[in-house]
Amino acid sequence: MATELKSSKYRCPQCGAGDFSVTTTQWRCDACGQAFACASGIPRLFVEARLGSQDRKLRDTFYDGLFGRLYQVMMPAIVMPVRPLAMSWPYWIAYGVVVAVLLGLVVGLVDALASGAFALAGLLAAALAVAGWLLSRQRYLLHLMWVAVPAWLSLSRKPYAPPESFAQVHERVLAPLRSAGRRLQVLDVSTGSCNSLYKHGWMDLDADYTAIDLSETMLKQGSDMMSAAGVPVDLVLGDAMELPFQTDSFDVVLSYGAVNGLTDPSKAIAEMARVAKPGGVLLFLDEQIYDAATAVERAYFMKVLSSHNVIHRCPVETFPPTLTDVRVSQVYQFYYICTARKAA
Ligand SMILES: C[S@@+](CC[C@H](N)C(=O)[O-])C[C@H]1O[C@@H](n2cnc3c(N)ncnc32)[C@H](O)[C@@H]1O
Ligand SMILES: [Zn+2]
Repeated sequence: MATELKSSKYRCPQCGAGDFSVTTTQWRCDACGQAFACASGIPRLFVEARLGSQDRKLRDTFYDGLFGRLYQVMMPAIVMPVRPLAMSWPYWIAYGVVVAVLLGLVVGLVDALASGAFALAGLLAAALAVAGWLLSRQRYLLHLMWVAVPAWLSLSRKPYAPPESFAQVHERVLAPLRSAGRRLQVLDVSTGSCNSLYKHGWMDLDADYTAIDLSETMLKQGSDMMSAAGVPVDLVLGDAMELPFQTDSFDVVLSYGAVNGLTDPSKAIAEMARVAKPGGVLLFLDEQIYDAATAVERAYFMKVLSSHNVIHRCPVETFPPTLTDVRVSQVYQFYYICTARKAA
């Protein structure tokens, strides 16, 4: 049986209307009749043909692929040169094992060829070919192999003191929200595993949560995590560049680690501004390198951390004029947080 969802926060990606007839397997727009199938009860509120080419490519090869399935392991591995050893040592051990195995294969191959053990040489060459094929498909891992140690050495020589820390930026935004005195609507764009939405203080608010992502693999992890934590959240499969939400719907619009990698980052920011209520706040984080970076740190940034991105810094000059109080804080060597307010 279908439930009627009338004049909701949702917006039909086909015609812009807000009324849907909802079942567990599909949402049908009352105005244009377009049906949107659900994946595990989560509506797919986007039109496949309208996705940007970069977004489709990243979803299909990255977030719905190996990287997305192993996201909880891959992400900390990629950032291990920036993290304190106390947090990242298991990844350094895994890295050491992988490098030792690869070197062992090369040495073994040379040795087998030199001693005429051609069957063994064939086996070792096949193993190396498989490793080479895997690394060529995940280029950032190939580059991580050679740049991890030099980047770590370079970074550990000079600790970074941000003008405003990650925690301070969050507190600046969260403090007035905690005393808002009314129930807030919070949206997390490109929420992935819902990790950042859950972790950075947003759960302390008196709020309803909505979270959107394009990848089923990633959003399934978010759904599992939020259910395990007992946090009700409206999950949507959709496109950050065409948010399926009505204009002026949210008090807070967040996004962590996604904007720079979208086909059109400026369009996504304009969409985040559109769905924010007048007076609402935007906060988003992504990759941007600090001014004092060394050559090896730049190589690590461009070849590993920011390698899948379309832009490599906050595109502040393209913000819509509705955004005021714009502040960009370089919170870590390789990450900025941008905060802004939609004009009231
Ligand atoms: C690096 S992950 C960040 C996930 C999460 N925000 C976090 O902090 O862990 C980037 C996310 O952006 C999502 N994404 C990529 N293109 C998107 C698009 N066009 N619309 C919505 N989400 C998108 C990916 O599926 C992925 O989950
Ligand atoms: Zn419609």
